[in-house]
Amino acid sequence: MIFPQKHSATGTTIFTVMSALAQQCNAINLSQGFPDYPIDEQLGKLLFEATQQGFNQYAPMPGLPQLRQAISNDFAKRYGVEINPDTEITITPGATYAIYTAFTSVLEAGDEVIVLEPAYDSYIPNIETNGAKVVPVPLSAPDFSVDWNKVKDAITRKTKVIIVNTPHNPTGAIWSRQDWDTLADIVRDTNIIILSDEVYEQLVFDGKKHCSVLQHDELRKRSFVLYSFGKVFHNTGWKMGYCIAPSEFTIAFRRIHQFLCFSVNSPAQYALAQYLSLPQLPDVSRMMQQKRDLFLSLLKETPFIIHQPASGSYFQTVSYAQISDKPDMEFAQWLTKEHGVATIPISAFYSNKKDDKLIRFCFAKKEETLQQAIERLRKL
Ligand SMILES: Cc1ncc(COP(=O)(O)O)c(C=O)c1O
Repeated sequence: MIFPQKHSATGTTIFTVMSALAQQCNAINLSQGFPDYPIDEQLGKLLFEATQQGFNQYAPMPGLPQLRQAISNDFAKRYGVEINPDTEITITPGATYAIYTAFTSVLEAGDEVIVLEPAYDSYIPNIETNGAKVVPVPLSAPDFSVDWNKVKDAITRKTKVIIVNTPHNPTGAIWSRQDWDTLADIVRDTNIIILSDEVYEQLVFDGKKHCSVLQHDELRKRSFVLYSFGKVFHNTGWKMGYCIAPSEFTIAFRRIHQFLCFSVNSPAQYALAQYLSLPQLPDVSRMMQQKRDLFLSLLKETPFIIHQPASGSYFQTVSYAQISDKPDMEFAQWLTKEHGVATIPISAFYSNKKDDKLIRFCFAKKEETLQQAIERLRKL
């Protein structure tokens, strides 16, 4: 049997590869982005309560009304934006699914999509599976800001979508209002659609604020915005997320969604709706900033070079140029096997596998895990 090659990514995703290697070598896994500490006990109890309350059958296709309402209330409170829970919110099984569904809703063969690299590794296969062409635009090291002239130069009559990600995986960079304004200037006289991946929206540090495309009235009208509960409530394994988009975008999104998974895990939706409606939720940014600060201070005891502390997300990208001149994939494997700490090589986030001798650490881990990892890295 010959199966069609729908996209250019070959083999298994780097996250699976490095997590498997970490397990095999009994290494501390700072590669894949998931916490190693428990979820809020109350959220777990609500999941159990959901099964007792009878939330065990198919949920409505767009998502449980009470969860969509809770999200709408949450965004009104935190961002001061009004979102119609019936026509602008769709609950999804995670953000990766939402990204794929948004692309599939709008892309046709021959369309072009601008991807700012380094980029989360699902974007490109999702675009190519839909028969569209990826137009990569590199971000500018060391702060990984956007070179707007390069974005302008990449736009053609075929450009259908620009996908952006703030806070950014893997670099921890965040967008300012100025970035959104510049993007608005660039796309103003076009029909270009924006896909805004904001899964780390609640993980922003040093008193900075996440700047959402939803707060930009002009761009919001042409945007799909994707979120993940997993990144906010430390439950990545629940694979729960949502898409916020204007009503006609949401109609197109649901046209695909209803035949892709139809509806999403009912008890998890109930639990998240109840949890989001609690008067006070833990301050995730504060908690994650403490982890980032601890990790940064510990990293100073190693030969890694920190060009730029992460402003958001739960990742810190560092240079290992002082330690080795191995290619980054080889270095990451060597570090896992020989020193027992797993990371992700940054070349995996570039379509041309650009190698700048950078690796990414995930610091969403218990203090003791971070300390044990540094204990090992100190010996480098
Ligand atoms: C930038 C980015 N987008 C989306 C996702 C996926 O989120 P989910 O687990 O909800 O599919 C991740 C997860 O690592 C991510 O880093």
